[in-house]
Amino acid sequence: MSLRGAIEPDGATHVRWRGRRLVYFGGCDYYRLAQHPTLLKAHSRAAARDGLGTGASRMTTGNHPSHSELESALVKFFGSETATVVGNGYLANLALGQAAAGRFDAAFIDERAHMSLRDAAQFLDCPVVRYRHCDADDLTERISPRRAAKRLVVMADGVFGATGRIAPLAGLAKRLPRSATLWIDEAHGAGVLGDRLRGTAEHCGLANRRVIQSVVFSKALGSFGGAILGPRWLRSALFDGNHVVTGSSSLPSGLAKATLASLGLLRARPGLAKRLRRNIAFVKERLLAAGVPAGDTAFPVFSLECPGKKASALRRRLLATGIYPSCIRYPTGSDGAFYRFAISSEHSCAQLELLVAALSGYSCD
Ligand SMILES: Cc1ncc(COP(=O)(O)O)c(C=O)c1O
Repeated sequence: MSLRGAIEPDGATHVRWRGRRLVYFGGCDYYRLAQHPTLLKAHSRAAARDGLGTGASRMTTGNHPSHSELESALVKFFGSETATVVGNGYLANLALGQAAAGRFDAAFIDERAHMSLRDAAQFLDCPVVRYRHCDADDLTERISPRRAAKRLVVMADGVFGATGRIAPLAGLAKRLPRSATLWIDEAHGAGVLGDRLRGTAEHCGLANRRVIQSVVFSKALGSFGGAILGPRWLRSALFDGNHVVTGSSSLPSGLAKATLASLGLLRARPGLAKRLRRNIAFVKERLLAAGVPAGDTAFPVFSLECPGKKASALRRRLLATGIYPSCIRYPTGSDGAFYRFAISSEHSCAQLELLVAALSGYSCD
């Protein structure tokens, strides 16, 4: 896998790439909050006061008041028992794996889980079994020889960011003993799914199940950083010699304040989520009617697999229409190259129509 050409944002819905200004349907900034003046102001104010970084971990001198302020806001927003902020989403999963070491007798992980979840599983100190992607029947079969074990954990992305597929968490949960825990990576679902935007667990109705979540600030929240949401024992373990929490610098206060601003915006402006959902429906309904497999989930992402020459043809077609060709080769995605499209709340009707026109009637078969 090689690096693609550098991309520069140019306003909320465009990028500059290889000297051209193109409409952008890439990335995961689903509300384009990374460009929002409220977040930028919150960030620059805090950075001017506190400096760019904290210079130490929270266990030494890097514990800033904005960390606990953000944790309280996360608890309120996501309805979790506790929230613990770390430097990014990848670290959130690693920290969680370290904190949960020895807590489970067996772990079951979706074969296409994000690499941070797969890395985190290695810390658990128990057998880790892969089950077929989003396949509740396969999970049941693999659990069956270990059903007597009380402490099971199932690990999955709530939404698989490469394809936009939502994990069938309700179906998976039904196959599990009540004592089992679901560890959900909410990198993509947080801020997008559920009535209160709490993510996939809310969307799939898991309120009565044991759930642990990792969240990422760099996607729908438009900032940077990560957090672990879960029960008290987890928070205690995270502050009891956890390697990530002890051995890496804490989140800069500018990012903590920007994330706080973002949570505030999502709550105060329900119109943002409404607009995102309207835009998703606009594009997906039209594409599905045109025979393009855009998926019918209420999530802003879909991907099209395009082998060989078809990929080059689609690239030419997108460029001719003025759209950035977001072709991706990603270890957890579909096999080979695929085009990934992400709709935002900020795309105009004309831009959405442009995408529909570029993809309609186009077959990757
Ligand atoms: C599913 C998933 N989990 C975790 C991460 C890691 O998040 P971060 O970029 O904050 O390290 C990502 C980011 O790409 C992701 O897509």
